[in-house]
Amino acid sequence: MDVLKELKEKILSEFNEIKSMKELEEIKIKYLGKKGILKQQLSILGQLSADQRAEFGKQINSLKELLEEKIQEISITLKEEEKRRRIQKEKIDITIPGKKDEIGAIHVLTLVKDEISSIFLNLGYEIAEGPDIELDYYNFEALNIPKDHPARDTQDTFYISDEVLLRTHTSPVQIRVMKSQKPPIKIISPGRVYRSDEIDATHSPIFHQIEGLMVDKNVRMSDLKGTLEIFAKRFFGPDTKIRFRPHHFPFTEPSAEVDISCIFCGGEGCRTCKGEGWIEILGAGMVHRNVLINCDIDPGEYSGFAFGMGIERIAMLKYGIEDIRLFYENDIRFLRQFR
Ligand code: DAH
Repeated sequence: MDVLKELKEKILSEFNEIKSMKELEEIKIKYLGKKGILKQQLSILGQLSADQRAEFGKQINSLKELLEEKIQEISITLKEEEKRRRIQKEKIDITIPGKKDEIGAIHVLTLVKDEISSIFLNLGYEIAEGPDIELDYYNFEALNIPKDHPARDTQDTFYISDEVLLRTHTSPVQIRVMKSQKPPIKIISPGRVYRSDEIDATHSPIFHQIEGLMVDKNVRMSDLKGTLEIFAKRFFGPDTKIRFRPHHFPFTEPSAEVDISCIFCGGEGCRTCKGEGWIEILGAGMVHRNVLINCDIDPGEYSGFAFGMGIERIAMLKYGIEDIRLFYENDIRFLRQFR
């Protein structure tokens, strides 16, 4: 009987040490398993007298019951602890500020390019493209700007070789289109252009233009005027007026610089239009006969008009942006205004 008493104490002290379900399981097997300690104790029964046997059996049984009770109890405690630990670990602090997904925006230059393009697409124009790295021939020569022409000084650029350069304007696309398509031609060509200009508030060595070209039979200056008037009214507002000023471009004849009535003062004269009431927005003219001839188009049969405008300049006007550098600096505070 003393053996069982000792065993009971041992069991109780061992139970106090249990810290996990695994340990509990081990102890369960150790005492209650098929070859467990209690089973082993039963084998002593044979050596005992009938009286002792009954008593011993009773004791063993009560020990077994105690064990089972204890196991049950500890298993509940362990499970609760485990649950508490998990809740603690998975707790969400709803007071921490959330992470917001930043939604991007179309760059304002793309926005303006698309808006200008869609006006011309609605007038039946198609989009044509040309390379940024261009031949001297397309950028100058075929546009009636020979090697010694003073117009080259105002369009100095980056040369890759004597004959290959970064295009100074989108006008070479005119040549590429007229050489590959027969009239009627109605295209616009947005794209990037380059000049070796010093950077300041209105100059950048990389900027963007949109070129326009229409070639057909009987295309006249009045068609150019009407087209640009529609563009100006749709883009800047229905009250916008346009004005043609005589100018010179080697690839058009006659040529003009085109102004719009100042969109800030309505033509009264203000700081932006420098008191003029007018603001220049583009260059245009009737395609020069030499240019048509360079592209194997008969100037006796066909005529055309062309125009070219700077996208930055138009965007600056439309949104009152005063420094061209803002377009390229990727300052989100600037960019997010044009959503
Ligand atoms: N290419 C000229 C420039 O960059 C702009 C221009 C003027 C384009 C007259 C034209 C045009 O098509 O007809 O300054």
